[in-house]
Amino acid sequence: MPDIIDRYGRTFKTLRVSLLSACNLGCVYCTLGENTDMFKKAQAPVERFLDHIARLHKELDLETIRLTGGEPLLYHDLPLLIKGIGAIGIPEIKITTNGFLLERLARPLKDAGLQSVNVSLDAAEEATFYRMSKRRGLQKVLTGIEAAIEAGLDVKINTVIMRDLNDDQLLPLARFAFSKNIQIRFLEVMAMGHLHQQAGQYLYTQEEVLNCMATAYSFEPEERKKSATANYWRTSGGHSFGIIANESEPFCHDCNRLRLDAQGNIYGCLSSNNPISVKDAGSSEVLRSRLSQALQQKQALKFTGSELSMLEIGG
Ligand code: 5AD
Repeated sequence: MPDIIDRYGRTFKTLRVSLLSACNLGCVYCTLGENTDMFKKAQAPVERFLDHIARLHKELDLETIRLTGGEPLLYHDLPLLIKGIGAIGIPEIKITTNGFLLERLARPLKDAGLQSVNVSLDAAEEATFYRMSKRRGLQKVLTGIEAAIEAGLDVKINTVIMRDLNDDQLLPLARFAFSKNIQIRFLEVMAMGHLHQQAGQYLYTQEEVLNCMATAYSFEPEERKKSATANYWRTSGGHSFGIIANESEPFCHDCNRLRLDAQGNIYGCLSSNNPISVKDAGSSEVLRSRLSQALQQKQALKFTGSELSMLEIGG
């Protein structure tokens, strides 16, 4: 069957699944610090996710699946879900997590077939960790990262750099990542959720990240892979770091991501507020027409902001 493709040549090859809208941290770029733990009560069953994922995979021949949330490690039966996704035949299974519960889960998730984990970490010391996440527990996340490395998972760190909030953590976090031989990616803050109208004041640009890194390292750019979110550089010491420069260097033009939420809705773009249901899309024909509809939600070149936060739509 021909690919579902838009006029920019984009199609869906990566599926990001938001497992639930609860989180055990309250990061400043995502929430106003409110407690969202209570949302973890009503979780969609594993079978329902697997049914949607299998039907999407049949139409799209997906290459990668990334589990997100909210916080995906709060999902009640993650190993079972991951095993099921492996059985469906999607080659790469990855997760984006805040790492809080990773120490206990790294091994069972790896055993279930998880290959890679992106851990969000915005500070290398406790006071800034608290300022960014409104919770204490830096040590727990660091232990989680250790456990993931130990379990043989491919580990990356994601750091959102915000002006005057945690920009002084850039070099300490790079140093930490390099000491563990793992990759770190710095994210420009995106105009999402409650920051929709005011992300600008916090924006710390790709250029500023590079200038800061240049005070401690020398590095060369690497070639960008198709559909990648990050640009990468390699230091003379052989370490690699990335920047997800949504503002400075938007990457919508070859975006291949599709999102699925816990209610059985798909979205073609992080910025889309219009759910498209796949629950009742029984036939292949109906599902393909909904996927074409989702593809049209992609923005042409640049993400222009959204009232939804990542908590709601998934990272
Ligand atoms: N801007 C940039 N990054 C964000 N994340 C969540 N919300 C925002 C935002 N408004 C990050 C998380 C996680 C990744 C999925 O996106 O920290 O690492």
